[in-house]
Amino acid sequence: MRDPPYNTGRDFIYDDDFAESTASFLERSGQADDEGVRLVANTDANGRYHSDWLSMMYPRLKLARNLLKDDGVIFISIDDHEIDNLRELCDEVFGAQNFVAQIIWQKVFSPKNSAQWFSEDHDYIVCYARDKQDWTPNSLPRTPEMDARYKNPDDDPRGPWASSDLAARNRYDSGLYPIETPSGRVISGPPRGSYWRFSEARFKELAEEGRIWWGNGPDSTPRLKRYLSEVSGGRTLQTFWPYSEVGHTQDAKKTLLKYVPFEHTENVLNSVKPVQLIQRILQLATNVKDNDIVLDFFSGSGTTPHAVMVQNSLDGGNRRYICVQIQEPLERPEPTFKSILGMSLERIKNVAAELSAELNPPDLGYRLVKIDTTNMTDGTREPDETDQLALGELEPSIKSDRSGEDVLFQVLLDWGLELTMPIKVEALSGHQVFDVEEGSLMACFDKHVAPDVVQEIAQRTPLRAVFRDDGFESDAARINAEQVFREVSPSTEVKAI
Ligand SMILES: C[S@@+](CC[C@H](N)C(=O)[O-])C[C@H]1O[C@@H](n2cnc3c(N)ncnc32)[C@H](O)[C@@H]1O
Repeated sequence: MRDPPYNTGRDFIYDDDFAESTASFLERSGQADDEGVRLVANTDANGRYHSDWLSMMYPRLKLARNLLKDDGVIFISIDDHEIDNLRELCDEVFGAQNFVAQIIWQKVFSPKNSAQWFSEDHDYIVCYARDKQDWTPNSLPRTPEMDARYKNPDDDPRGPWASSDLAARNRYDSGLYPIETPSGRVISGPPRGSYWRFSEARFKELAEEGRIWWGNGPDSTPRLKRYLSEVSGGRTLQTFWPYSEVGHTQDAKKTLLKYVPFEHTENVLNSVKPVQLIQRILQLATNVKDNDIVLDFFSGSGTTPHAVMVQNSLDGGNRRYICVQIQEPLERPEPTFKSILGMSLERIKNVAAELSAELNPPDLGYRLVKIDTTNMTDGTREPDETDQLALGELEPSIKSDRSGEDVLFQVLLDWGLELTMPIKVEALSGHQVFDVEEGSLMACFDKHVAPDVVQEIAQRTPLRAVFRDDGFESDAARINAEQVFREVSPSTEVKAI
């Protein structure tokens, strides 16, 4: 799922370092400072107005496709500014054959009288499947209004029913016969230009089973009774999503204001989406109990985590979310947060607090991970850049400003372990020791690791154990540690990084 900046000329498009020529263009045209930092809106005065936006989107779409499951699907919200370019980009990345729908979301509750030409009522939500043949959307749950159309005026033991036409226009040669009503009136055949939908034999069966409604008046035409109990599935998906069903922009802002205590209203995100809109996407594209992962590359105020938590609480689901948000500062810092990310964390916490009071709350936990440069020091040097005395500088393998937790997350990624695994932090002989998922991995990234800590970790027989390369007092201490594991827990995979 993604809700990128729409490129309206007003939204910030942070420059990705995608092309050197763009950087030099920006500097030459005064849109970037001498350090190449660009924090200006992408206005159409920018000679690369569309191209910058596309360059920002392309790698993200490529990555999104790689990350999708075989039966995965992507929804991208956009308006008229970039819809054509976006469709072309998606055709290239996902394949035109995997285009599923271009949904129209009625985003506006009342027209903008100030509009110079047209008041824009809608956004698009473009949907592509990773492989259209592999993906079938879930139908939407039936609404109480839909069910209310089924009644039981004749106390039919099969329960409430609604009637439908017995005649149809499709040519059906066995559908031309007279029908005699229970009152003895004979209907010579279906209305002109139409055919009964059933053969005479089948019609007689249906009449015997009491599945024909003969109507209230003497001139009524017979109709077929369709029972609520036999209506299979939910609602058919349609490409027009009215605000009465999925909310509008004002709803979205109201929700944001409910969960985030803003002091400065200019910080309320204009592009925020209604929770119901994302819930609708979750309903049709994710399964309740499959641990489905919802990935949002442009998380903004955190509508996606909000919708995932609410939907899980409504249907007992176990969907998870991964949300990405760049460090975008707010126009005016708020007392409790200073960036869009901070705003979304505030929202997630407050929504989670509300849902945790429910009878069977879903898993409301989350982990915040920030992208940084590698934790490892760069040990590469040209031969003439180093000498005997400077060799000591090359000893530390981990940068001095990195915490044990920083290194742990790198190790989890290197080993392909999930970042959501439970982590216990313990103090063993004054050292910080991490225990990931009850012994899937144990780690200590302190310096001068005491031998009894090595012994204790080995005795817990973890699947993996990690230390820092320069964490041992001496080579002998390191060799000794390896020996301890060989004896006490030979199956542990031991690494020093
Ligand atoms: C349309 S908003 C998303 C709103 C979100 N769906 C919500 O309901 O709050 C787009 C987001 O993209 C972010 N953004 C802008 N330029 C970006 C870039 N170059 N890379 C990544 N994110 C960017 C903005 O910080 C903003 O949060």
